[in-house]
Amino acid sequence: MSKNPKQMKNLLVTGGCGFIGTNFIRYLLESDVFRGRIINVDKLTYAGNPENLAEIAERFTGRYVFEKVDICNFSDLENVFERHDIDSICHFAAESHVDRSIVGPGAFIQTNILGTFNLLELSRARADRLALFHHVSTDEVFGSLGASGYFTEQTPYRPNSPYSASKAASDHLVRAYHKTYGLRVTISNCSNNYGPYQFPEKLIPLMILNALAGKRLPVYGDGENVRDWLYVTDHCRAIWKVMECGQTGETYNIGGANEIPNIEVVEMVCDILDELEPGPGSGRRALIRFVTDRPGHDRRYAIDFSKARDTLGWQPQESFASGLKKTVQWYLDQRRWVQRIQSGEYQRWIAMQYNP
Ligand code: NAD
Ligand code: TYD
Repeated sequence: MSKNPKQMKNLLVTGGCGFIGTNFIRYLLESDVFRGRIINVDKLTYAGNPENLAEIAERFTGRYVFEKVDICNFSDLENVFERHDIDSICHFAAESHVDRSIVGPGAFIQTNILGTFNLLELSRARADRLALFHHVSTDEVFGSLGASGYFTEQTPYRPNSPYSASKAASDHLVRAYHKTYGLRVTISNCSNNYGPYQFPEKLIPLMILNALAGKRLPVYGDGENVRDWLYVTDHCRAIWKVMECGQTGETYNIGGANEIPNIEVVEMVCDILDELEPGPGSGRRALIRFVTDRPGHDRRYAIDFSKARDTLGWQPQESFASGLKKTVQWYLDQRRWVQRIQSGEYQRWIAMQYNP
C-alpha cells in the first residue's frame, strides 16, 4: 500500500463511468494503491456506462459510491462535496471526442470549461481541507507538430479544435486557481489512450468493431497523421504517481513512446483480427477507405515524458503490439458490452452524421 502522503480519504473522481475513469477506478481499488473511498460523479452522457463498474460496486461496498450528477450543476455538485466530505479530486469528466466538437462545440464549452470552473470554485471554498485537485488533460492543447520534435511541459499552448481549445481553457483555469488562490493542483497532459472500455467512436475501437462487422474502415486524409499511443493502464499508473508524488502547481506530460501513423494502426488492427478471428474473403485490410480529412486535423503528436520519468520514476510498460492485441481480444470477449453501448445515443448520432 502507498504512503498516501496527501491524506486523500474521500476522493472525488469525475467522469468515472467513461473510458479512462473506469480504468482508473478499477486500478485504484484492485491494485490496492489507494485505501480511501471513491465518489464517482458522472452525468452518464452517451460515453458513460455505469455497468463498467457494477461489479466493482459489489466487491468494494462502502469504498465505492456512484452519484449521477452533472458537473455543470453547481448545487448538485456542492451537495456531493458536503455529503461525502470530499478532500481530493481527480477530474476526468469531459466531452472528449474531436469530431463531435467540430459538429457541436457547445457541450464542450459547458462541460469542459464551466464544469471545471464549478469544481474549482467548490474546491476553493474548502481549500483548507483539500489535499489535491488533479486535472486530467491532453497533449492536444499544444497543437500540432511537424515531422520532428516533441511536446514538453514548456511547449506553448496552440489548440486547433474546439475540443482542445476547451481543454486548454480548463488547464489555464486550474493553473490560475493555484497561482491566485494557492489551490493545491497538479495537471497531466497525456497522449492518445487505448485499451478496454473505450467508446467505439475513437480510432482503435471504431476500427475493431467496423472490421468485425465487415464495414468500411474510414481513414481520414492520407492516413499519415501520427499519434502517440498510450495503454490506458500505463496512464492510470501515471496519474496516481502524479497525485501521490507530483509537486503542487506542476504539470506532467505522459506519453506511450509509440508514435505510429494512423494507417499503420488500422492495418495492425486488421491483421490482429484476421489472426484471432479469421473472417471471410481476403482479409480486413480490404475494408480500408481513405475519406475526406477532418477539418483542422493535427498532423503529429509526440510527447517528451522525461519529467515524469526522472522526477516520478514513471514510464510506460506496455508495448503497442501487445497492448493492441489485448485490446482487440477484450472487444472480442465483450460482445454484450459492445452491443449495449452501441444501442443508444451513439447509434442515433452516427446515423444523423452519416445518413442525414
Ligand atoms: P470519455 O468520453 O470516455 O468519458 C467521459 C466521461 O465523462 C463519461 O463517463 C461522461 O458521462 C462523463 N461526463 C461528460 N460530461 C459530464 C458532465 N457534464 N458531468 C459529469 N460527467 C460528465 O472520455 P475519456 O476518454 O475517458 O477521457 C477522460 C479524460 O481524459 C477527459 O478529460 C479527456 O479530455 C482526457 N484525455 C483523454 C484522452 C484519450 O485518449 N481518451 C487523451 C488525453 C486526455
Ligand atoms: P481519435 O481517436 O478521434 O483521437 P484524436 O482525434 O483525439 O487524436 O483519432 C485518432 C486519429 O485517427 C486522428 O488522427 C484522426 C484519425 N481517425 C481516422 O482516420 N478515422 C476515424 O474514423 C477516426 C475516428 C479517427
